[in-house]
Amino acid sequence: MSAAPEIRIMTDNKELAYEAAELFVWLGEQAVAANGRFQVALSGGTTPKELYAALAGPDFSTKLAWSRVDFYFGDERCVLPDHPDSNFGMANETLFRPLKIQPEQVFRMPGEDNRPERAALQYEELLRKEFQAPAPAWPSFDLVLLGLGEDGHTASLFPGTQALDEREKLVVATTAPQGIKNRLTLTAPTINSARTIVFLVSGSSKATAVRLALEASGQGDRRVPVRLIRPETGRLIWLLDQTAASELTIAKQGIVSHEE
Ligand code: 6PG
Repeated sequence: MSAAPEIRIMTDNKELAYEAAELFVWLGEQAVAANGRFQVALSGGTTPKELYAALAGPDFSTKLAWSRVDFYFGDERCVLPDHPDSNFGMANETLFRPLKIQPEQVFRMPGEDNRPERAALQYEELLRKEFQAPAPAWPSFDLVLLGLGEDGHTASLFPGTQALDEREKLVVATTAPQGIKNRLTLTAPTINSARTIVFLVSGSSKATAVRLALEASGQGDRRVPVRLIRPETGRLIWLLDQTAASELTIAKQGIVSHEE
């Protein structure tokens, strides 16, 4: 039985990014101390930009042994790595270049492959090699960072797609209802094998999806894919700003910053 999620509500997205950066660095220090490496799967979309800028900024860029961090991705759009919609491209501009991360530390999903199924298999094989996790073992990320879509998707696990039912593969090719159609994504069991999963969600447009994720019952997981994310044994932390948390009961009760 996975532990209850820890919910932290910050005043605004600046405070949210700072809290996320402190947590990222703390988790990184713990992983490096324990295993010599910090293996993290980054989220895509736009929300993490503030976090990545904070990590590359003066308050955090000297706080972690960045050469010990290996960067993976939770999902990717099937585009070239320098395409404006590439999740790798965004992280490269806002995080890897400023921190002078070496190419051998970055394991991007091959979104440029015109055969997404082949790309998914290739990334799966890479994960099994880098995590020394041959089938049927599951690779365990130290941290999987996730965002949340207004439709309740996370990574590229979209409502009503076959990807939601995958219980054996680590990575699958799937499609999105909007934007870049073809996507690659970690599957729910791969995400749920992580030691720590952190959701980073900002903005009133996400408030209903946050409530459905954390408080609603009855909505099937296929209609609200984020509800599939329940770590087997790891920690689940939700970092929210007040607008994203505005439909939660605890927010209405005036609990502004709920520490675990
Ligand atoms: C992606 C992300 C996706 C994202 C949400 C939220 O590739 O788009 O992995 O799951 O986290 O769609 O996106 P925003 O942060 O842009 O709102």
